[in-house]
Amino acid sequence: MERPVIQVKNLYKIYRIGENKVKALNGVDFTISKGEFCCIVGTSGSGKSTLLNMMAGLEPPSRGEIIIAGEHIEKKNEAKLVVFRQEHVGFIFQSYNLMPNLTAIENVALPLTFQGVPKEIREKKARRMLKLVGLGKFMNHRPGQMSGGQQQRVGIARALVVDPEIVFADEPTGNLDSNTTLEVLRLMQKIVHEKGQTMVMVTHDNYLASFGDKVIHIRDGKIIGIDEHPGGAQNNEVEADAGYYPGGTLAVPGEEINLYENQQY
Ligand SMILES: Nc1ncnc2c1ncn2[C@@H]1O[C@H](COP(=O)(O)OP(=O)(O)OP(=O)(O)O)[C@@H](O)[C@H]1O
Ligand SMILES: [Mg+2]
Repeated sequence: MERPVIQVKNLYKIYRIGENKVKALNGVDFTISKGEFCCIVGTSGSGKSTLLNMMAGLEPPSRGEIIIAGEHIEKKNEAKLVVFRQEHVGFIFQSYNLMPNLTAIENVALPLTFQGVPKEIREKKARRMLKLVGLGKFMNHRPGQMSGGQQQRVGIARALVVDPEIVFADEPTGNLDSNTTLEVLRLMQKIVHEKGQTMVMVTHDNYLASFGDKVIHIRDGKIIGIDEHPGGAQNNEVEADAGYYPGGTLAVPGEEINLYENQQY
Protein backbone atom coordinates (compact mmCIF):
# COMPACT_ATOMS: atom_id res chain seq x y z
CA MET A 1 0.00 0.00 0.00
CA GLU A 2 1.28 3.45 -0.96
CA ARG A 3 1.59 6.13 1.70
CA PRO A 4 -1.57 8.13 2.48
CA VAL A 5 -1.62 11.48 0.70
CA ILE A 6 -4.96 12.57 2.18
CA GLN A 7 -6.17 11.83 5.70
CA VAL A 8 -9.55 13.03 6.89
CA LYS A 9 -10.26 12.58 10.61
CA ASN A 10 -13.54 13.09 12.45
CA LEU A 11 -14.60 15.86 10.09
CA TYR A 12 -17.70 17.98 10.75
CA LYS A 13 -19.23 20.87 8.85
CA ILE A 14 -22.25 22.53 10.36
CA TYR A 15 -24.05 25.33 8.53
CA ARG A 16 -26.32 27.61 10.52
CA ILE A 17 -29.14 29.39 8.78
CA GLY A 18 -31.15 31.38 11.31
CA GLU A 19 -32.39 28.88 13.89
CA ASN A 20 -31.59 25.91 11.67
CA LYS A 21 -28.45 23.83 11.72
CA VAL A 22 -27.47 21.61 8.79
CA LYS A 23 -24.87 18.96 9.49
CA ALA A 24 -23.42 18.81 5.98
CA LEU A 25 -20.60 16.58 7.28
CA ASN A 26 -21.31 14.55 10.36
CA GLY A 27 -18.10 12.83 11.50
CA VAL A 28 -16.18 11.67 8.43
CA ASP A 29 -12.99 9.55 8.43
CA PHE A 30 -11.01 8.09 5.53
CA THR A 31 -7.60 7.87 3.91
CA ILE A 32 -6.60 8.19 0.26
CA SER A 33 -3.28 6.75 -0.91
CA LYS A 34 -0.85 8.32 -3.33
CA GLY A 35 -1.72 7.42 -6.91
CA GLU A 36 -5.28 6.45 -6.09
CA PHE A 37 -8.32 7.48 -8.15
CA CYS A 38 -10.93 7.92 -5.43
CA CYS A 39 -14.61 8.55 -6.14
CA ILE A 40 -16.99 10.02 -3.59
CA VAL A 41 -20.55 9.09 -4.45
CA GLY A 42 -23.90 10.08 -2.94
CA THR A 43 -27.23 11.67 -3.76
CA SER A 44 -27.83 15.41 -4.01
CA GLY A 45 -27.31 17.13 -0.66
CA SER A 46 -25.32 14.24 0.85
CA GLY A 47 -22.28 16.47 1.47
CA LYS A 48 -19.99 15.63 -1.46
CA SER A 49 -19.10 19.17 -2.55
CA THR A 50 -18.73 20.27 1.05
CA LEU A 51 -16.21 17.48 1.60
CA LEU A 52 -14.29 18.22 -1.60
CA ASN A 53 -14.14 21.96 -0.90
CA MET A 54 -12.81 21.25 2.55
CA MET A 55 -10.09 18.92 1.29
CA ALA A 56 -9.09 21.55 -1.27
CA GLY A 57 -8.84 24.19 1.45
CA LEU A 58 -11.65 26.28 -0.06
CA GLU A 59 -13.79 26.21 3.08
CA PRO A 60 -12.87 25.58 6.73
CA PRO A 61 -14.35 22.61 8.63
CA SER A 62 -16.32 23.14 11.87
CA ARG A 63 -14.29 20.42 13.54
CA GLY A 64 -11.83 17.66 12.66
CA GLU A 65 -8.57 17.28 10.77
CA ILE A 66 -7.51 17.21 7.12
CA ILE A 67 -3.92 16.23 6.50
CA ILE A 68 -2.69 16.53 2.92
CA ALA A 69 0.85 15.68 1.91
CA GLY A 70 1.69 15.80 5.63
CA GLU A 71 0.23 19.29 6.18
CA HIS A 72 -2.75 20.19 8.35
CA ILE A 73 -5.08 22.13 6.04
CA GLU A 74 -7.51 23.12 8.76
CA LYS A 75 -4.80 25.08 10.56
CA LYS A 76 -3.77 27.24 7.61
CA ASN A 77 -4.83 30.85 7.09
CA GLU A 78 -6.08 32.06 3.70
CA ALA A 79 -2.66 33.26 2.51
CA LYS A 80 -1.11 29.87 3.28
CA LEU A 81 -4.03 28.08 1.65
CA VAL A 82 -3.48 29.98 -1.58
CA VAL A 83 0.12 28.79 -1.67
CA PHE A 84 -0.95 25.26 -0.72
CA ARG A 85 -3.44 25.12 -3.59
CA GLN A 86 -0.93 26.48 -6.10
CA GLU A 87 1.66 23.92 -5.04
CA HIS A 88 -0.39 20.77 -4.61
CA VAL A 89 -3.84 20.99 -6.16
CA GLY A 90 -5.62 21.05 -9.53
CA PHE A 91 -9.39 21.51 -9.98
CA ILE A 92 -11.80 20.30 -12.61
CA PHE A 93 -15.27 21.83 -12.36
CA GLN A 94 -18.63 20.74 -13.73
CA SER A 95 -19.11 24.03 -15.53
CA TYR A 96 -15.54 24.07 -16.98
CA ASN A 97 -14.94 27.63 -15.68
CA LEU A 98 -12.93 28.63 -18.74
CA MET A 99 -12.25 32.27 -19.55
CA PRO A 100 -14.52 32.99 -22.54
CA ASN A 101 -12.22 35.54 -24.16
CA LEU A 102 -9.10 33.41 -24.01
CA THR A 103 -8.16 30.71 -26.51
CA ALA A 104 -7.70 27.09 -25.43
CA ILE A 105 -3.95 27.52 -25.19
CA GLU A 106 -4.29 30.76 -23.18
CA ASN A 107 -6.77 29.13 -20.79
CA VAL A 108 -4.46 26.17 -20.19
CA ALA A 109 -1.43 28.43 -19.71
CA LEU A 110 -3.20 30.60 -17.14
CA PRO A 111 -2.28 28.65 -13.95
CA LEU A 112 1.36 28.78 -15.03
CA THR A 113 1.13 32.58 -15.17
CA PHE A 114 0.20 32.56 -11.49
CA GLN A 115 3.29 30.46 -10.83
CA GLY A 116 5.50 32.97 -12.62
CA VAL A 117 6.56 30.58 -15.38
CA PRO A 118 8.06 32.45 -18.39
CA LYS A 119 5.80 32.92 -21.42
CA GLU A 120 7.67 30.68 -23.83
CA ILE A 121 7.61 27.75 -21.39
CA ARG A 122 3.97 28.36 -20.51
CA GLU A 123 2.99 28.06 -24.14
CA LYS A 124 5.12 25.00 -24.70
CA LYS A 125 3.59 23.21 -21.70
CA ALA A 126 0.04 24.28 -22.57
CA ARG A 127 0.50 23.05 -26.14
CA ARG A 128 1.76 19.64 -24.94
CA MET A 129 -1.12 19.31 -22.50
CA LEU A 130 -3.70 20.16 -25.15
CA LYS A 131 -2.19 17.57 -27.49
CA LEU A 132 -2.38 15.04 -24.68
CA VAL A 133 -6.13 15.58 -24.31
CA GLY A 134 -6.64 15.33 -28.05
CA LEU A 135 -7.09 19.02 -28.82
CA GLY A 136 -4.01 19.61 -30.95
CA LYS A 137 -6.19 21.21 -33.63
CA PHE A 138 -8.12 23.46 -31.26
CA MET A 139 -5.31 25.46 -29.67
CA ASN A 140 -6.61 28.78 -30.91
CA HIS A 141 -10.33 28.17 -30.41
CA ARG A 142 -12.22 30.08 -27.75
CA PRO A 143 -14.55 28.13 -25.42
CA GLY A 144 -17.63 29.30 -27.37
CA GLN A 145 -16.15 27.69 -30.49
CA MET A 146 -15.86 24.24 -28.88
CA SER A 147 -18.26 21.45 -27.84
CA GLY A 148 -18.94 20.69 -24.15
CA GLY A 149 -16.60 17.68 -24.22
CA GLN A 150 -13.85 19.70 -25.86
CA GLN A 151 -14.26 22.50 -23.32
CA GLN A 152 -14.04 19.99 -20.48
CA ARG A 153 -10.86 18.57 -22.00
CA VAL A 154 -9.45 22.11 -21.95
CA GLY A 155 -10.52 22.21 -18.26
CA ILE A 156 -8.64 18.97 -17.63
CA ALA A 157 -5.55 20.24 -19.46
CA ARG A 158 -5.67 23.43 -17.37
CA ALA A 159 -5.96 21.46 -14.10
CA LEU A 160 -3.08 19.16 -15.00
CA VAL A 161 -0.65 21.58 -16.65
CA VAL A 162 0.91 22.53 -13.32
CA ASP A 163 1.49 18.84 -12.64
CA PRO A 164 -0.43 18.86 -9.34
CA GLU A 165 0.04 16.17 -6.77
CA ILE A 166 -3.71 15.97 -6.25
CA VAL A 167 -6.59 16.61 -8.65
CA PHE A 168 -10.06 17.40 -7.30
CA ALA A 169 -13.02 17.08 -9.66
CA ASP A 170 -16.61 17.96 -8.75
CA GLU A 171 -19.07 16.26 -11.15
CA PRO A 172 -16.62 16.86 -14.02
CA THR A 173 -18.86 15.11 -16.52
CA GLY A 174 -22.13 16.54 -15.22
CA ASN A 175 -22.79 18.57 -18.37
CA LEU A 176 -21.73 15.95 -20.90
CA ASP A 177 -23.63 13.29 -22.85
CA SER A 178 -22.95 9.65 -21.98
CA ASN A 179 -20.42 8.92 -24.76
CA THR A 180 -18.42 12.03 -24.01
CA THR A 181 -18.67 11.30 -20.28
CA LEU A 182 -16.94 7.95 -20.73
CA GLU A 183 -14.25 9.43 -22.96
CA VAL A 184 -13.50 12.22 -20.50
CA LEU A 185 -13.50 9.85 -17.54
CA ARG A 186 -11.15 7.39 -19.25
CA LEU A 187 -8.88 10.25 -20.18
CA MET A 188 -8.67 11.57 -16.61
CA GLN A 189 -8.10 8.05 -15.29
CA LYS A 190 -5.34 7.41 -17.82
CA ILE A 191 -3.44 10.66 -17.30
CA VAL A 192 -3.67 10.54 -13.52
CA HIS A 193 -2.54 6.91 -13.36
CA GLU A 194 0.33 7.42 -15.78
CA LYS A 195 1.58 10.49 -13.93
CA GLY A 196 1.16 8.88 -10.49
CA GLN A 197 -1.16 11.68 -9.38
CA THR A 198 -3.98 11.27 -6.90
CA MET A 199 -7.49 12.12 -8.04
CA VAL A 200 -10.62 12.66 -5.98
CA MET A 201 -13.82 12.84 -8.01
CA VAL A 202 -17.29 13.58 -6.72
CA THR A 203 -20.34 12.18 -8.51
CA HIS A 204 -23.96 11.20 -7.84
CA ASP A 205 -23.65 8.35 -10.38
CA ASN A 206 -22.72 4.89 -9.05
CA TYR A 207 -21.64 3.66 -12.48
CA LEU A 208 -19.20 6.53 -12.96
CA ALA A 209 -17.95 6.07 -9.38
CA SER A 210 -17.14 2.45 -10.22
CA PHE A 211 -14.19 3.71 -12.32
CA GLY A 212 -12.42 4.58 -9.06
CA ASP A 213 -9.79 2.45 -7.33
CA LYS A 214 -11.64 3.38 -4.17
CA VAL A 215 -15.31 4.37 -3.85
CA ILE A 216 -16.49 6.25 -0.78
CA HIS A 217 -20.27 6.22 -0.32
CA ILE A 218 -21.68 9.20 1.55
CA ARG A 219 -25.21 9.81 2.83
CA ASP A 220 -26.45 12.63 5.05
CA GLY A 221 -22.89 13.73 5.79
CA LYS A 222 -21.72 10.27 6.90
CA ILE A 223 -19.71 7.60 5.18
CA ILE A 224 -21.85 4.51 4.78
CA GLY A 225 -19.33 2.30 2.99
CA ILE A 226 -15.96 2.18 1.24
CA ASP A 227 -15.27 -0.21 -1.67
CA GLU A 228 -11.80 -0.87 -2.99
CA HIS A 229 -11.16 -2.27 -6.43
CA PRO A 230 -7.81 -1.17 -7.83
CA GLY A 231 -8.06 -0.32 -11.52
CA GLY A 232 -11.81 0.30 -11.25
CA ALA A 233 -14.64 -2.21 -10.82
CA GLN A 234 -15.77 -1.72 -14.39
CA ASN A 235 -12.60 -3.38 -15.63
CA ASN A 236 -13.74 -6.70 -14.21
CA GLU A 237 -17.41 -6.66 -13.58
CA VAL A 238 -18.82 -4.79 -16.04
CA GLU A 239 -19.43 -5.36 -19.02
CA ALA A 240 -22.20 -6.06 -16.58
CA ASP A 241 -23.29 -2.52 -16.97
CA ALA A 242 -22.81 -2.38 -20.69
CA GLY A 243 -26.41 -1.47 -21.28
CA TYR A 244 -26.15 1.54 -19.04
CA TYR A 245 -24.20 3.71 -21.43
CA PRO A 246 -25.21 2.20 -24.73
CA GLY A 247 -22.71 2.65 -27.50
CA GLY A 248 -20.24 4.45 -25.29
CA THR A 249 -16.91 4.62 -27.06
CA LEU A 250 -14.01 4.14 -24.75
CA ALA A 251 -11.33 5.38 -27.09
CA VAL A 252 -9.01 7.91 -25.61
CA PRO A 253 -8.57 10.79 -28.00
CA GLY A 254 -5.24 12.36 -28.63
CA GLU A 255 -1.84 11.76 -30.02
CA GLU A 256 0.63 9.65 -28.10
CA ILE A 257 3.13 11.89 -26.42
CA ASN A 258 5.56 11.46 -23.60
CA LEU A 259 3.75 12.39 -20.40
CA TYR A 260 6.91 13.18 -18.56
CA GLU A 261 8.46 15.37 -21.18
CA ASN A 262 6.58 18.42 -20.03
CA GLN A 263 7.75 18.22 -16.47
CA GLN A 264 11.11 19.79 -17.00
CA TYR A 265 11.85 23.24 -18.19
N1 LIG B 1 -23.18 27.50 2.15
C1 LIG B 1 -24.14 26.73 2.68
N2 LIG B 1 -24.99 27.21 3.60
C2 LIG B 1 -25.93 26.42 4.14
N3 LIG B 1 -26.11 25.12 3.84
C3 LIG B 1 -25.30 24.59 2.92
C4 LIG B 1 -24.26 25.35 2.28
N4 LIG B 1 -23.60 24.54 1.41
C5 LIG B 1 -24.20 23.35 1.50
N5 LIG B 1 -25.21 23.35 2.40
C6 LIG B 1 -26.06 22.21 2.78
O1 LIG B 1 -25.21 21.13 3.14
C7 LIG B 1 -25.70 19.91 2.62
C8 LIG B 1 -24.66 19.27 1.73
O2 LIG B 1 -24.48 20.09 0.58
P1 LIG B 1 -23.46 19.72 -0.59
O3 LIG B 1 -23.41 20.89 -1.52
O4 LIG B 1 -22.18 19.29 0.01
O5 LIG B 1 -24.19 18.48 -1.27
P2 LIG B 1 -23.79 17.64 -2.57
O6 LIG B 1 -23.69 16.22 -2.15
O7 LIG B 1 -22.60 18.24 -3.23
O8 LIG B 1 -25.08 17.81 -3.48
P3 LIG B 1 -25.22 17.97 -5.08
O9 LIG B 1 -25.08 16.58 -5.65
O10 LIG B 1 -26.60 18.50 -5.26
O11 LIG B 1 -24.17 18.91 -5.57
C9 LIG B 1 -27.02 20.24 1.92
O12 LIG B 1 -28.06 19.99 2.81
C10 LIG B 1 -26.88 21.72 1.61
O13 LIG B 1 -28.15 22.33 1.59
MG1 LIG C 1 -22.30 19.22 -5.08
